[in-house]
Amino acid sequence: MTIAYDTIAPSYARHRGGYAFAVAILNRLYGKSPGGPVLEVGCGTGVYAAAMAEAGARTVYAMDLSHQMLRQAPEHDRIAYLQGRATDLPFADHALDMIFSVNVVHHIQNIDDYMRESFRILEPGGVFCTATDSEDIIRRRTPLSRYWPATVPVELERYHDLEMLRGKMAALGFCDIDECEGSMSFPISDVEAYREKAFSCLQLISEDAFAPGLQAMESDLHAGSLHGTSELAFLWAKRP
Ligand SMILES: C[S@@+](CC[C@H](N)C(=O)[O-])C[C@H]1O[C@@H](n2cnc3c(N)ncnc32)[C@H](O)[C@@H]1O
Repeated sequence: MTIAYDTIAPSYARHRGGYAFAVAILNRLYGKSPGGPVLEVGCGTGVYAAAMAEAGARTVYAMDLSHQMLRQAPEHDRIAYLQGRATDLPFADHALDMIFSVNVVHHIQNIDDYMRESFRILEPGGVFCTATDSEDIIRRRTPLSRYWPATVPVELERYHDLEMLRGKMAALGFCDIDECEGSMSFPISDVEAYREKAFSCLQLISEDAFAPGLQAMESDLHAGSLHGTSELAFLWAKRP
């Protein structure tokens, strides 16, 4: 099932910010690149593109398939937004020094084409980074997997295995392949983001599975505040 990002864009913008740990890791990886133009693929509402520009990247291209997600993104004099598809990147060979995506690769239909395009447009020494959820991260997602366990099998089906992604990167010729994880804990004071299904996995389960989870979360929130955890696995490599 395709997620209707054009429809959920305002809700996404209201409820889904960037993670400071992800910004720190992306900046560290940018420091390993030649330091020129950066492309964020699937930039959505632009939170990471904006953070990279603020951190000093002089030219940031930010691309997304959804016009409405792009409409929510902040204007910035160092960011050029583009509407387009990850498998067809409108750049010349060796044009970019870093390409990254956050929470996007599971939406891309043809990973091989995306990686091949990325390899083509990266400068030698350029960094390719995919921030996504590993199987372990999906299983321990809090609150999503706790209140909506039906999301776990759905997500395991949807997300790519990191070893498989590594194998594809190696087969294309990427080198210095490595990975790390980052996380942060955050207080949850209301259920609005979950009620509005700002997390796409909640749109992929039945109402019968969704409703009891929401009720349980509301009831736990009445009894006291909750804490959630955001985690991401970062898989990166260099173009030789
Ligand atoms: C979960 S959101 C992540 C947005 C942003 N990276 C963030 O972390 O806030 C996934 C985004 O990927 C975009 N997307 C999905 N498939 C895409 C594709 N094939 N090419 C480009 N963008 C795509 C969607 O429109 C959506 O904005």
